[in-house]
Amino acid sequence: MYNLLKGKKGLIFGALNDKSLAWKVAERAYEEGAELVLTNTPVSMRFGEINELAEKCNSIVVPADATSVSDLEMLLDKTTAHFGGKIDFILHSVAMSLNVRKGRTYDDLDYNYLNKTLDISAISFHKLLQTAKKKDVINEWGSVVALSYVAAQKTLYRYNDMADAKAMLESIARSFGYIYGRDKKIRINTISQSPTLTTAGSGVKGIDGLMDFSERMSPLGNATADEFADFCITLFSDLTKKITMQNIYHDGGFASMGMSYKAMKMYNQALNNSINSDEFSD
Ligand SMILES: NC(=O)c1ccc[n+]([C@@H]2O[C@H](COP(=O)([O-])OP(=O)(O)OC[C@H]3O[C@@H](n4cnc5c(N)ncnc54)[C@H](O)[C@@H]3O)[C@@H](O)[C@H]2O)c1
Repeated sequence: MYNLLKGKKGLIFGALNDKSLAWKVAERAYEEGAELVLTNTPVSMRFGEINELAEKCNSIVVPADATSVSDLEMLLDKTTAHFGGKIDFILHSVAMSLNVRKGRTYDDLDYNYLNKTLDISAISFHKLLQTAKKKDVINEWGSVVALSYVAAQKTLYRYNDMADAKAMLESIARSFGYIYGRDKKIRINTISQSPTLTTAGSGVKGIDGLMDFSERMSPLGNATADEFADFCITLFSDLTKKITMQNIYHDGGFASMGMSYKAMKMYNQALNNSINSDEFSD
């Protein structure tokens, strides 16, 4: 370990269970010397295992709904009171789509669900940043990271309204990144992660096929949750102070590929086996 976060204080959203990307980041951040506060919704705290993580990381858990500004205000107050000072880094690892969950296709969206998707998965990031800035709770040269996916740039079958949420999330990182950087020297980035088998990931129908496809397409293979945590730590550290307003692909090269030998081989095999049905379910 490198002590990259020694003396730093961080707030981590979205650790549900030991598969969560946020869970891995919390473990790594703790290993690297950070002090942590963890947060998630009251419901997910009941179903998840976050208290186990808190024990491991010697941190507290503060329940909060990331779509509620009053919850965020309370959360930031409790976090700074716990630390006895300001925060150095924040991870926003929060997303949910009821359209995906309930099997509504993109050409048959429920608009109340869409509003919820955008509120939970994108606008909550704005709410968090705005509340943090108004309360001035992040130290100069602090770092904020949110989690995105390449569906923000390219259409991927079945990613549904979450693609719109990710596009908005990345835009918020840029727009707020300008203001927070200019006024407080705080950097804001999104990491665009490979598909990963987490609770949210498993919610995307056909995730296994998608993961196999991106594994074949990526010259370095899919990035795992542990590798995600490693990368995220560097963005929280002082080694990346001038990186801001970026969406950084952490995907083994997938986003720059069009076709690879391994994917072509699989496609040709399917062609030879005459598996060329054009039927689709959405
Ligand atoms: N798993 C993947 O394939 C993948 C790939 C790229 C990006 N991501 C993104 O990574 C992030 C974390 O997801 P994950 O894959 O670790 O799955 P996860 O299910 O473990 O985490 C999602 C978290 O969001 C939390 N959440 C939902 N609604 C909330 C609310 N209103 N307020 C606060 N928290 C709320 C959940 O409780 C949960 O902890 C998400 O933004 C997801 O879109 C995931």
